Amino acid sequence: LTRPITSVSLNDLLAQSPFKRKHVLSVSKFSRNDLHHLFTVAQEMRLGVQREGSLDILKGRVLCTMFFEPSTRTSASFDAAMKRLGGSTVVVNESHSSVKKGESLADTIRTLGCYGDAIVLRHPEESSADTAAKFSSVPIINAGNGSKEHPTQAFLDLFTIREELGTVNGLTITFVGDLRYGRTVHSLCELLKHYDVSIQLVSPTSLSLPSKILEQLKSRGQLAGEYEDLSPEVVAKTDVLYCTRVQKERFEDLELYEKTKDTLVVDNAVMRNAKGNMVVMHPLPRNQEVKEEVDYDPRAAYFRQVSHNVPGQRAIYVCVGRICADL
Ligand code: CP
Repeated sequence: LTRPITSVSLNDLLAQSPFKRKHVLSVSKFSRNDLHHLFTVAQEMRLGVQREGSLDILKGRVLCTMFFEPSTRTSASFDAAMKRLGGSTVVVNESHSSVKKGESLADTIRTLGCYGDAIVLRHPEESSADTAAKFSSVPIINAGNGSKEHPTQAFLDLFTIREELGTVNGLTITFVGDLRYGRTVHSLCELLKHYDVSIQLVSPTSLSLPSKILEQLKSRGQLAGEYEDLSPEVVAKTDVLYCTRVQKERFEDLELYEKTKDTLVVDNAVMRNAKGNMVVMHPLPRNQEVKEEVDYDPRAAYFRQVSHNVPGQRAIYVCVGRICADL
């Protein structure tokens, strides 16, 4: 089978991109067609890099990244993706920046916009993404605003579900753990409005999904149940078991963290109740909520979620939502 030259397809796709020069602040702004455009670009990028080793579609472009909260995957994947596609990055370390001299977020963003074509921002304040967009001359990509949203992770998660299970429609997705502070859960729940899915929620009561998101799931008829335990019945119905870390850094009451951190654990005993063709996902990092013994189960998809386990493709998967979206 012959296919068109990949770089031509990519250039065509990028020229038609509904994301071009737009901020990526919240998943709520993106339609199902937008998502499918993104996934098509992802497939083309994967093919392009497979065939040609690297691409230069972002040659001459500069991406500024600034993380006010710790990150491994998001920060490294933006950096790797930009370089894999021929561009370069300016990585500003918050702890060595003029923020430490009292510079505001608005002034920081105004400044970075003079140096880059887009800015990736992670910040503990929920209002940070909107503030950054207000003062930025270039597109802002929200890499996590407090416990509110993590849009690019949600794009990647949806892409992973499609890659792993072939479809999203018809699936039962079970969110487990810290649904109150887990921003990836909030963004993914919003994106799932575009699909016909059943959603089960499993969390301690103190860490349940924010009421606004819960009401949206109910009004769409997607909520299949709320539980405090990972019972065999809940696990048996699940196609995607989406686990999250209990987010210690968001707790004002550390006693409550200590009480809740070990209440929901996925181990081999839990996996024995699960379907043969389901997957376990986790945005990572994890603590003790998914036992290492589960890593050896082929249904554990969380490292494929990061890399899809194919040498050289990591950046390509990750850049899908993250770079082509706005450059
Ligand atoms: N999934 C995710 O956002 O990971 P990092 O916090 O390591 O970037």
